[in-house]
Amino acid sequence: MNSNNFWKLLGALGLAFALPWLLLVVLPYLDQSGAAPVAYGEGEEIEGGLTAYPDRTLQRHGASDYGREIYAAEGCAYCHTQVVRPTYAGADMWRTGWGGREEDGLARETQPGDYANEGVALLGYQRIGQDLSNVGHRITTREEMHRHLYDPKSFDTDSGMPAYKHLYRPSAMGDGLVPTPKAEALVDYLLSLKKDQPLPKSVLSGN
Ligand code: HEC
Repeated sequence: MNSNNFWKLLGALGLAFALPWLLLVVLPYLDQSGAAPVAYGEGEEIEGGLTAYPDRTLQRHGASDYGREIYAAEGCAYCHTQVVRPTYAGADMWRTGWGGREEDGLARETQPGDYANEGVALLGYQRIGQDLSNVGHRITTREEMHRHLYDPKSFDTDSGMPAYKHLYRPSAMGDGLVPTPKAEALVDYLLSLKKDQPLPKSVLSGN
């Protein structure tokens, strides 16, 4: 290798590491490092009539907390994220439904408070499937959600999603499958994924 190529290679390698580092570490750090608790007036008016992050414990229903543990244990986060990235870092807001209820003008990027009360935020490792931050708005019935888990290929014959058949048992009548309590809890959790609550302007980053 002549020395010219060597420097080209080194330069290309440097760029290949520096660019993602800049976009994924430095920019988000600069964006968020100044974040401080925001005091907002009790009556601060925002669209939708809410005044702050709603108390998620009130929204939780069924066994969605247990369902979140199943989501973690089954490795869903290896293929699904729960981060609607800011547009400078990705095209998530251009994907239909990822940011939430577009028809109501509520679609938005994920904000740090969306993980309030979650213990461990299941951000995800990579995106083989869709971002699931707002999947509870896209798939709204238990039946459809179950079908996505035990037979993903029934929606998309090329689906790269494994079938989670071990979360289902044959019915006693032999005429189909019955969800285990784990599957029911997981579906509770998935249906509860709606990270598009309206926020006061003062909380939205960049404001
Ligand atoms: C090996 C990667 C992989 C794993 C692991 C995986 N999925 Fe998926 N998932 C996908 C792909 C690819 C799609 C898109 C194709 C499809 O709809 O089947 C998808 C689609 C979905 C959808 C439909 C999303 C939408 O917007 O319509 C849901 C819901 C879902 N997955 C839930 C889960 C859950 C819950 C788990 C864990 C129990 C899981 N996935 C594990 C790859 C994966």
